[in-house]
Amino acid sequence: MAARGAFSNRLGFILAAAGSAVGLGNIWKFPFEVGLGGGAAFVGMYLLFCFLLCFPVMVTEVAIGRKTQKNAIGAFNSLGFKKWNFIGKLGIFCGILILSFYNVIAGWAFGYFFEMAVGNFSISQNFGVYTSNVLKVGAYAVVFMLFTAFFVSKGVSGGIERLAKILMPSLIFMIFCLVGYALTLPNAFEGIKFYLVPDLSEITMSTVGGALRQAFFSLSLGMGALITYGSYLSKSDNIVSSAAFITLADVGIAFIAGLMIFPLVAFNNGGDMSLVQSSQAGPALIFVTLPGVFETLGAGLGAFVGAFFFLLLSFAALTSTVSLLEVPVSYVVDEWKLDRKVAVGAVALLIFIIGLPSMLANGASGFFSGSFTMPGGSTDFLSLAALSADTLLLFGGFFIVTFAAYVWKKENLHEELAEGFDGYHASFVKTFIDFAISYVCPVLLAILFVLVFLNNFFGINLL
Ligand code: PFF
Repeated sequence: MAARGAFSNRLGFILAAAGSAVGLGNIWKFPFEVGLGGGAAFVGMYLLFCFLLCFPVMVTEVAIGRKTQKNAIGAFNSLGFKKWNFIGKLGIFCGILILSFYNVIAGWAFGYFFEMAVGNFSISQNFGVYTSNVLKVGAYAVVFMLFTAFFVSKGVSGGIERLAKILMPSLIFMIFCLVGYALTLPNAFEGIKFYLVPDLSEITMSTVGGALRQAFFSLSLGMGALITYGSYLSKSDNIVSSAAFITLADVGIAFIAGLMIFPLVAFNNGGDMSLVQSSQAGPALIFVTLPGVFETLGAGLGAFVGAFFFLLLSFAALTSTVSLLEVPVSYVVDEWKLDRKVAVGAVALLIFIIGLPSMLANGASGFFSGSFTMPGGSTDFLSLAALSADTLLLFGGFFIVTFAAYVWKKENLHEELAEGFDGYHASFVKTFIDFAISYVCPVLLAILFVLVFLNNFFGINLL
């Protein structure tokens, strides 16, 4: 066990897993998905999915990891169900795909740290020029991957844990300050209305699918990241309460990021919220919205706050990229017995190369920037990679709970969850988890996966 590494205590695990969950998904992706999904109705569904469907998947992943002390593929082998290790294989594939584009966006955010530091607020008008400058964004992406590789090579307690301990609280504090500021700006209320007052006519199949995909992505579920992190967790720790904390922290941070962004969008556009469904929305949303707002703070303070914000966002992204890289690395180290540093170098390089088309997908190459035909019109490579990966997470989530409930058997899952949780067997939460993994999650995830898949990729709307 010692050779594999372990978290030094429960707090270390919680912070690392929350660090994995909280990232670009909360601050970059959540707001634009809410925007594209039509606002508050999307938010409501997202919250429902997080607690009803995702929380049970999260406890299951962590329990499988801790029980077996193995990576995402090895865990299934070690439980004696080798045939089911396709779930882990799919997870590793998904992790590689996600990291390949996530690293590009993280590079953009990191680059914005420098742009804000020199007071280049007008970058929001030239965002397309920025992202199509391959040398620039490519260099940031290289640096970001090197940071990620560095922390993963130090192992869980040396790198990942220490990083999360300092940075998460700072980011939360900063977002709260920005929410306070945003709410004082003209037209802020229009943004809040869009965000919090639901318009039920906005609920369509693509909104439901978007909310579910976002819930899985944001909580780092469905690809074995939490099997991997769970494998470093000690037997005396309470999985259920840890998972509850992680879910609450992740959802809470996404929620306050929305409270920050939507008033700012409304402020920038004189109360007109249609922008969030226009061409400036999508992956560009925070990058075109925030600089103009920082500018209103005045040159000096604006540069300071802007730079600090994007620095913290980059750190939040880093605790997520670290968990994404850890999934394939942990497999290679456990099963191929490769030295950790060699494994990290090889896997990081491979993923960086796979990410090249995503890097070219925002202006640098006409082909990668828009020639992929989808039901809603043509799209770019990065958006397609993100959509495919998110959809696969639902597939993974379905198989993980189904495996635990019906193949590994839920008695074994409960036994693992009871370790470190006195009174688990008599608790309400056990009844909830039992019901959720036996019926609610498998049935709803299967149905929703099929509906989402047909809708996203073939434009077929069965609802
Ligand atoms: N949850 C991360 C975010 O919201 O930014 C992204 C992510 C990390 C997804 C790790 C999946 C994963 F395994």
